[in-house]
Amino acid sequence: MTEPRKLFIKTYGCQMNVYDSERMAEAMGASGYVTTDTPESADMILLNTCHIREKAAEKVYSELGRLKPLKDLNPELKIGIAGCVAQAEGAEIMRRAPVVDLVVGPQTYHRLPAMEAAVRAGERPVDTEFPSEDKFEHLPKGPRAGRGVAAFLTVQEGCDKFCAFCVVPYTRGAEVSRPAERILREARDLVARGVREITLLGQNVNGYHGEGMDGRDWSLARLVRELAEIEDLWRIRYTTSHPNDMTDDLIAAHGEVDKLMPYLHLPVQSGSDKILKAMNRKHTAAHYLAVLERLRDVRPDLAVSGDFIVGFPGEDDADFEATLDLVRAVGYHSAFSFKYSARPGTPAAERPVLPDVILNARLHRLQAVITQQQRMVQESMVGRDVTVLFEKAARMPGQMVGKSDYLHAVHVTDDALAPGMLRRVRITESMTNSLNGVLL
Ligand code: SAH
Ligand code: SF4
Ligand code: F3S
Repeated sequence: MTEPRKLFIKTYGCQMNVYDSERMAEAMGASGYVTTDTPESADMILLNTCHIREKAAEKVYSELGRLKPLKDLNPELKIGIAGCVAQAEGAEIMRRAPVVDLVVGPQTYHRLPAMEAAVRAGERPVDTEFPSEDKFEHLPKGPRAGRGVAAFLTVQEGCDKFCAFCVVPYTRGAEVSRPAERILREARDLVARGVREITLLGQNVNGYHGEGMDGRDWSLARLVRELAEIEDLWRIRYTTSHPNDMTDDLIAAHGEVDKLMPYLHLPVQSGSDKILKAMNRKHTAAHYLAVLERLRDVRPDLAVSGDFIVGFPGEDDADFEATLDLVRAVGYHSAFSFKYSARPGTPAAERPVLPDVILNARLHRLQAVITQQQRMVQESMVGRDVTVLFEKAARMPGQMVGKSDYLHAVHVTDDALAPGMLRRVRITESMTNSLNGVLL
């Protein structure tokens, strides 16, 4: 028997890329590939790339430089670029990096097996189409790997919002929602494979409006309520949301659906109305705060996280102070902040970029405020009882790690624990990025 070919996938960027990498591995499984954890042992390397900031895209080219020598060691090795850099740069990658054998965009990876065959026949295929067929339905059925306890499930993809700084509407295309029936089928399949927590994914997930089983469009809230009926699915999350799509029924679901976890990633980007307008966010800071207030009315313990961009073109000191004020008003469980990065092809890229010293100083100040908030929230958990879904063994002997309802990583050392257990835990200690606790 010949040994199966080995596939190594390196994933950059957002959770949707993580999900896509799993689906690509399944697709290649149908062509006889098994996954491996080391590029050195691979016959095919796929870089599933991100184009969101300049640094993210540049990383791909430096990684290619590092991988190049592996081709001398293994003449069978083929290298492919997938994801959002593939979509944005397409054939340009082939010109810039002769080491690359195939380029496949986020909407065509169901065609990977055919592309792989073309590569083995000596071609260098590029496919960055936005095809009319549904890639999820056209994925070859590879061996269905067991999943962990928590899994992602893409329900909506693409974005029509066109924030002035963002490449996603170009790399992922127009907003498309998957039909509810297919999502429910996939969710049941995940649960049958041991998954207990599902995070619904979409670039603009709360804009979900897929075809429902009654022929009408379903909202995300409707979909969540339907998923909550799956008995052995214990927890539901969703990400990423836009403030303008936080509809009444979704807010209500946070108060009514027990399985919907009290955690929400709701990016706002800036606290200044002037900058929000220039960003084409189409909402004000006050609107954002009002949405959170309504959510906290129905779910007072809701944990909130966000994203921020500092140094958007035209941002002055007062605008930046407004962002700090908003952060202080919200009390984030966690937040990501980024220096503005001009992306070719986006409207904001036409505007002059602020000096890097200003960007650095603002990022530093914002992160200090966020870190302090995060620490306070975490320390306030000590002494409280939370529910933890245990996922895997941690570093210390006998220790397991899992997630609280609020998405805190929680460590417990107890021989009675195994992955997949849902237990009440008393928090005893707050560490840098996690909590320690004991079983109740
Ligand atoms: N769909 C999500 C976010 C997608 S990108 C949303 O609407 O919020 C993830 C984060 O990257 C964004 O929230 C933003 O904070 C950041 N980001 C996007 N484009 C950027 C750019 N050009 N420069 C810096 N940060 C950027
Ligand atoms: Fe990008 Fe804005 Fe769409 Fe989010 S909502 S993906 S930031 S364009
Ligand atoms: Fe990056 Fe594409 Fe996700 S640009 S953030 S991988 S949608």
